[in-house]
Amino acid sequence: MLTDTTKSYGWLSIGLHWITAVLTLGLFAVGLYMVDLGYYDAGYYELPRWHIGWGLVLGALMLPRLVWRLAHRGKPEPLPQHSKPIRWVSKSVQQWG
Ligand code: HEM
Repeated sequence: MLTDTTKSYGWLSIGLHWITAVLTLGLFAVGLYMVDLGYYDAGYYELPRWHIGWGLVLGALMLPRLVWRLAHRGKPEPLPQHSKPIRWVSKSVQQWG
């Protein structure tokens, strides 16, 4: 199913979520690694280019992600077994939901 329902997320939300998650973690790791590279180390030129290029892709994905979230508000309810702290954390990191 493309769109979110109150029972499950649709594949577009899931896909956008995982693409942005993988890019964020990858960019963070590469960012930390590349700032310690010396002039003669492998990746001294390539990694910052990779980092900037994919960083801009990640930034560009935020807009369609936000539009999709605001346009499709029927997302799944928390499961009954979710504790209060889990619900609070979940809600606080998903302000647009
Ligand atoms: C979620 C994590 C990150 C994202 C989305 C991200 C995104 C970006 C973007 C879009 C740029 C290009 C902006 C510009 O050139 O003005 C950039 C540049 C840069 N980032 Fe990150 N970044 C992340 C994490 C990090 C970390 C953890 C470090 C290092 C501690 C880092 C170090 C740098 C450096 C040094 C540049 C400039 C590269 C150059 O101009 O040669 N980044 N980042």
